[in-house]
Amino acid sequence: MDSIVVRGGRPLSGSLPISGAKNAALPLLAASLLSDSTLVLENVPRVVDLASMANLLVELGGDVAEEPSPADAFGMTLRLSAAGLKDVTAPYDLVRKMRASVLVLGPLLARTGHARVSLPGGCAIGTRPIDLHLKALAQLGAEIELSQGYVEARAPSGLTGGDITFPSVTVTGTENVLMAACLARGDTVLRNAAREPEIGDLARCLVAMGAQIEGIGSDTLRVTGVAALNGARHRVLPDRIETGTYAVAAAITGGDLELRGTSLALISALADVLRAAGVELTEVDGGLRVARRNGRITGIDVMTEPFPGFPTDMQAQVMALMTTASGAAMITETVFENRFMHVPELCRMGANINVHGASAIVRGVPALSGAPVMATDLRASVSLVLAGLAAGGATLINRVYHLDRGYERLEAKLAACGADIERVKS
Ligand code: EPZ
Repeated sequence: MDSIVVRGGRPLSGSLPISGAKNAALPLLAASLLSDSTLVLENVPRVVDLASMANLLVELGGDVAEEPSPADAFGMTLRLSAAGLKDVTAPYDLVRKMRASVLVLGPLLARTGHARVSLPGGCAIGTRPIDLHLKALAQLGAEIELSQGYVEARAPSGLTGGDITFPSVTVTGTENVLMAACLARGDTVLRNAAREPEIGDLARCLVAMGAQIEGIGSDTLRVTGVAALNGARHRVLPDRIETGTYAVAAAITGGDLELRGTSLALISALADVLRAAGVELTEVDGGLRVARRNGRITGIDVMTEPFPGFPTDMQAQVMALMTTASGAAMITETVFENRFMHVPELCRMGANINVHGASAIVRGVPALSGAPVMATDLRASVSLVLAGLAAGGATLINRVYHLDRGYERLEAKLAACGADIERVKS
C-alpha cells in the first residue's frame, strides 16, 4: 500500500486545475444505463471510484470507451453505451468497495424492470443504509425483496409515477429515484429532495437525454416520465469539495493559490467560514483566488448540514485548518454518525481536539509537528495531508488508496504549487 510523505512549513503559491466532480460523475455514469444510445461525458476525473463504476457498467454489459487525450491532461471524456446491457446484478465484491454502485439500482430497474444490487454494508463513516432509496422506489411500484445480502427489485410492468416525500435528505437516494422516475409512467414529485449541485448536474444531463424535469436546484423535483431516453453530451461540473480542499491548503500554509476551472458559487457556505476565519477568497476569470491575510486563522464554529449548508465532506479539512487557529472552534457533524476518525490522527500531530458525541472542540495550538499517521476514509485522509503541509517536519500518511478514490493526481497538483510532497510506493 502506497504512502505519502509531506514536509510542511512551505506557503503554497501558484495555480492548479480543479477536476470534474467525483460525486456528479458517479450518478452520471449510472445514468448511461437508462438509454440504448451513447452518452458522452466530458471532464470526468481520473479517480479510482470512477474506474470502479466504469468496471461495473462493463460487467453489466455496457461499453465504456475513453476518447484520446494528452497523457498529462487532467480529466477524460468517456463514451458510454448500455445498448448491449445483459446483466442486472451489481455484485457484493464491487458494491462493498464502492457504495455508490447502488446508483445502478434505479436506472436498471427503470430500463429493464429488474435489478439485483448487493446491499452496500457500512463504511468507516457510518452504517449508511439505503432504506430511503428502497422505500421511494417501492412508491414507484417496484417490488423490493432483500435476500442473501442483495436487493431484488422488480417492476415487470414498468414503474408508475408517484408523490414521494423523503423523510430525511439523501443525496444518492434522490439521484437513484430521480433517474428511475424519468422512465416511469406518468408524473412523479420528489419532495425534500437533496439540493447538492451534483443533483442539478445530473438533472441537466437527464434533460439533455430527453427527460422532463422541473424544479432543478430546488427541494421539489417534478418529473414527467417518458418512454425512452436518448444519448447526449454533457460536461461534468467542477468538484466543489476538491475546490474547498485546495482552498484550505492555501489557508493552512499561509499561501496564495489560484484554483482554475471552478467557481466561488460552488463553495459559498465554506467561503463564509473561511472569510470569517481570516481567509481572502475572490472570483478571478475562470476560477477563484484564495489567500490568507497576515496573522493566524481565527477559530470559527462549524456545523455540517445538507446543501446549501456547510458540506460534511469538508468537515475534516476545516478541522485540520482550525488546529492551529487562535482561539477554539466547535465542529459539529450532523450528517454521519462516525466522521471523526481524523481526530486521533491529528492529535498525533499535536492538535488539541476533544470529541463529545457529534461535536469536536478544537483548541488552536501554535504549530503541528509531523508524524506517521493513518488514513481511514477519503476526506479524513486529505485532512492529514493538509495538516502535514502546515506541520514542522515530515508527515507520513499510510493507506493513501483512500485518497486515490476521490482526488486526481493530488501530489502533482500540490507539488506544482511548491509543496514538498511525494508518494512512496510499497
Ligand atoms: C453522498 O453520500 C456523497 N457520496 C457523500 O460523499 C456525502 O458525504 C453525502 O452524500 C452527504 O453529502 C456520493 O455522492 C457518491 P446521504 P450518500 O444518502 O448519498 C442517511 C465523499 O466523501 N441515510 O445523503 O450515501 C445516511 O446514513 C462521500 O465523497 C439513511 O439513513 O449520503 C446519512 O447519515 C462520503 N438511509 C445521511 O442519511 C438512506 O436510505 C445522509 O446520507 C440514505 C441515507
